[in-house]
Amino acid sequence: MDNLIPAGQHWSAKHYARDAGFVPALGAPLLALIDLQAGERVLDLGCGDGVLTTRLARTGADVTGLEPDPDMARAARARGISVMEQDAHDAFGESAFDAVFSNAALHWMRKPEQVLGHVHVALRPGGRFVAEQGGFGNVAAVVTALMAALEAQGHPTPARPVWDFPSVTGQRRRLEAAGFLVDEIALIPRPTPLPTGISGWLATFANPFLTAVPQPARASVLADCTRRLSVLHDAHEGWIADYVRLRFLARKPG
Ligand code: BEZ
Repeated sequence: MDNLIPAGQHWSAKHYARDAGFVPALGAPLLALIDLQAGERVLDLGCGDGVLTTRLARTGADVTGLEPDPDMARAARARGISVMEQDAHDAFGESAFDAVFSNAALHWMRKPEQVLGHVHVALRPGGRFVAEQGGFGNVAAVVTALMAALEAQGHPTPARPVWDFPSVTGQRRRLEAAGFLVDEIALIPRPTPLPTGISGWLATFANPFLTAVPQPARASVLADCTRRLSVLHDAHEGWIADYVRLRFLARKPG
């Protein structure tokens, strides 16, 4: 099948832990929302390096990860997680789970409707889907600065959005179209300190913007982007990204 990860995106479990370790570390509200019980079968969709998946497992639930990237899947297995190494655009079971959990993965999906359909099929009747992803307006300053820097230096901008950051209404409609009942859904602005600054963040996440830029010109684009982003730098707290999360709890009718 097509590679459905955006062109240019690649993962390193080691670099992700250093530059984006805050992504799983900030997952506590989602763990509370799923309220897992011992013995429940749960799928962690886009489990990455398995940091948050191990916290799901501590409840006594029977946890499986799903992760397409080989380096991330290896890191999750090294934590003792059983991982289905596959793309979420391919089916991943039928009535196989009591709950599906997903943190910071859905915004990477090229065909979100297809993925939501697979989640619905994979849940037992009455099963729940608890997820958090980038929501409408997420990292808007960063995206705008990247586009402006590309244009200013004469490079093409991506032909389609790199990430899917839906609104409450948009995601609710998608979930309902896939057959879910939506219990809770909200946008949550969450200014997020960046432990390795904007350079670490751009190195981890911005590669899909740079695929059409020759390698020697990339540093200049990133420097231009960083200059435009000085509004995200605080003299006392350092770099703070303009994150907006979309969190929801939906159920497959019983
Ligand atoms: C995240 O994983 O949280 C993320 C990824 C890309 C853009 C914004 C947020």
